[in-house]
Amino acid sequence: MVTVVTHPLVQHKLSLMRDERTGVKEFRELAAEVSLLLAYEAMRDLETEPHTLNTPLVSGEFPMLTGKKLALVAILRAGLIMTDSIVQLVPAAKVGHIGLYRDPQSLQPVAYYNKLPADIAERRVFLTDPMLATGGSASAAIASLKTAGATSIKLMSILAAPEGIAVIERDHPDVDIVVAAVDTQLNDHGYIVPGLGDAGDRIYGTK
Ligand code: URA
Repeated sequence: MVTVVTHPLVQHKLSLMRDERTGVKEFRELAAEVSLLLAYEAMRDLETEPHTLNTPLVSGEFPMLTGKKLALVAILRAGLIMTDSIVQLVPAAKVGHIGLYRDPQSLQPVAYYNKLPADIAERRVFLTDPMLATGGSASAAIASLKTAGATSIKLMSILAAPEGIAVIERDHPDVDIVVAAVDTQLNDHGYIVPGLGDAGDRIYGTK
């Protein structure tokens, strides 16, 4: 299932991110803010159970999070901005990292770094990659999460191309996707159009 977060705040901030005049500082702040708003939606189905506590006025039962603990996993490097932001909302979450590069011959993603919480199988996993373009990296990252035992995975991206969504739906139909927008297409260089450019370069100022 794909959820597009159409909230006006998200759409406004995303448009500012798309603007080529937006500089590194503002882009980074916007990416962090959009990530928080996406997390709000992605975590809508977290379980709660009533806990008894005393307010300054009365005793009562009030909902608190329960169920599986959480893991945030960033696909390096651009996914870092998302996990760094979202962990503020869920400070007890463990954070994993997956690094992938594309083999120049086979064009297949190859993992060069993989550090996941040891108990990932018991956690709900939120995988972050701001740009779901071809879907190759995200699909490979999901496969390595599953190899590590994860059974509950959501993919969070700021922007997606229809091609990337189709790859995840084909390879991992059990994985829900939460995005701020689905753009028109990929260009010949694998960039999302209209897009926002290279997310990593714009977050880290490496262009
Ligand atoms: N990665 C990016 O950073 N931007 C794109 O448009 C596609 C992949």
